[in-house]
Amino acid sequence: MTRKPFKVQAVATLLGISVDAVRRDSDDAGLQIERQPGDGPKTRLFSIENIFDLAAYRAKKFGITAKAKRIVTVYAPKGGVGKTTQTSNLAALFALMGLKVLVVDLDFQANLTISYGYDPELTHTEAKDTGLPVSTCVDYHLGHLLPQWQNSGQLPRLNDVLKKPFGENGPHLIPSEVTLDRLEALFTVDAIMSKKPELAIARFLAENRSGRNLDIDLSQYDVVMFDAPPAKNQTTRGALLASDYVIAPVSMEKYSTKSVSYLAGVLSEMQEEHNRYPELIILGNFYDMTRVRVAAQVIALTKQYPKAWLDKQISSSEEFKKVLSDDEGMPLALARPSSTAARELREVAKVLIEKMGVL
Ligand SMILES: Nc1ncnc2c1ncn2[C@@H]1O[C@H](COP(=O)(O)OP(=O)(O)OP(=O)(O)O)[C@@H](O)[C@H]1O
Ligand SMILES: [Mg+2]
Repeated sequence: MTRKPFKVQAVATLLGISVDAVRRDSDDAGLQIERQPGDGPKTRLFSIENIFDLAAYRAKKFGITAKAKRIVTVYAPKGGVGKTTQTSNLAALFALMGLKVLVVDLDFQANLTISYGYDPELTHTEAKDTGLPVSTCVDYHLGHLLPQWQNSGQLPRLNDVLKKPFGENGPHLIPSEVTLDRLEALFTVDAIMSKKPELAIARFLAENRSGRNLDIDLSQYDVVMFDAPPAKNQTTRGALLASDYVIAPVSMEKYSTKSVSYLAGVLSEMQEEHNRYPELIILGNFYDMTRVRVAAQVIALTKQYPKAWLDKQISSSEEFKKVLSDDEGMPLALARPSSTAARELREVAKVLIEKMGVL
């Protein structure tokens, strides 16, 4: 996969700083940045990795550290509302703020994994035959890190599982592929043995965020984000129970209200059974001012969660589709920083981080 390089202006837009600051800080950080070849001006050409490295350098320089570490699930029981798209964009934008971000693909259809440039169906032999790096293949997923799976003999370490699509300082990914589906069956066995499978993900995080387990050390991550499938399954419930927040994209059409009321129901069930539930954040996606009536209905429906509605939204934009075909492996917020959609996404990312008390 060859990625287009970024000029200074695009880097400045992505980081929300001046072009002078980009030049100065990238020199000070000692980043290895390519220069435009030929006789013309030797313009800097940043790789996406350079940009995340610069973001991390600036976070260190200005002493930006997370006030609180958060676990977030992006979930709505309705398909196609933008869960995966907005997870991939927001994870990248959080990392550009200088945060350490881990995204976990919980959908065996692996759209998030694919959107970051990996191919869950590619075999190692095919990769070698076609000259693709074997890192394009997906060998492991979250299931392989859980005790349920380890009983079947496989014991990868976190580093064997992790993907780093934009380098060390970009978001890290626990990818997915089709065998993740087996996790549901393993959870069902647990349920029969009264082992509370819905708490497996919460336990996994609690045990590995302390940094004591060197094989699976999650202590560095400020934000852990789960991209949940639309399925109402045990894996999704497990992620929700493990989370501080649930971001629910709603697509502003008439079935949105159904989806939100189902989710509200799940949260109150969790409150009853486990005495906890993640705080609800509703994100208007495919936002359209002419459909404010739907928004009003959603707001009315969530009266018990008065602060749930996020006051920044993401409009419907053709750019999301274009990026899928033109900028393989890159979310829109990175590929087209000057687009309206990217600007809206940056605003959403900012208010989310404030609302979740991370910065
Ligand atoms: N704001 C938007 N404007 C236009 N298209 C969008 C927008 N948000 C998402 N899309 C497009 O909608 C489609 C579905 O998005 P996505 O896969 O993120 O949804 P999802 O909720 O994760 O779906 P699933 O329930 O299948 O997991 C994709 O083609 C995506 O590019
Ligand atoms: Mg999805």
